[in-house]
Amino acid sequence: MSITVYRKAHFNAAHRLYRKDWDDEKNKSVFGKCSNPNFHGHNYELEVGISGSIDKETGFLIDMEELKNIIKEEVEEYLDHKNLNMDIPDFKEMNPTMENIAILIWDRLRNKLNSKFKVSVKLYETPRNFVVYTG
Ligand code: NI
Repeated sequence: MSITVYRKAHFNAAHRLYRKDWDDEKNKSVFGKCSNPNFHGHNYELEVGISGSIDKETGFLIDMEELKNIIKEEVEEYLDHKNLNMDIPDFKEMNPTMENIAILIWDRLRNKLNSKFKVSVKLYETPRNFVVYTG
């Protein structure tokens, strides 16, 4: 038996997608508006799923207050109102695409959560574009 609970969160962050070894024209053609040299923001929406078994004593899968605090510390405080390219060391040499951001979030949450849980991360970069990462 497996059951999944979800917690939503959001953060705002700026980024630019580009490769230093490509000229502006090629960056523009591959990354489009996300390659704007002066950066731009997104309102990222996050859904974190935690799967496992219900604790018989409490009836909980996980203490949602604890999950809330882990997401706050590991995701919101780390990424909210940041320039992802300039402020987040992980993205010094790696493009902050929604795919790479989702993996970073998953890694940070995985580190803090009991290994008995399965973790999934769904990250919306726009209302219509989103990615799911499950490890
Ligand atoms: Ni963008």
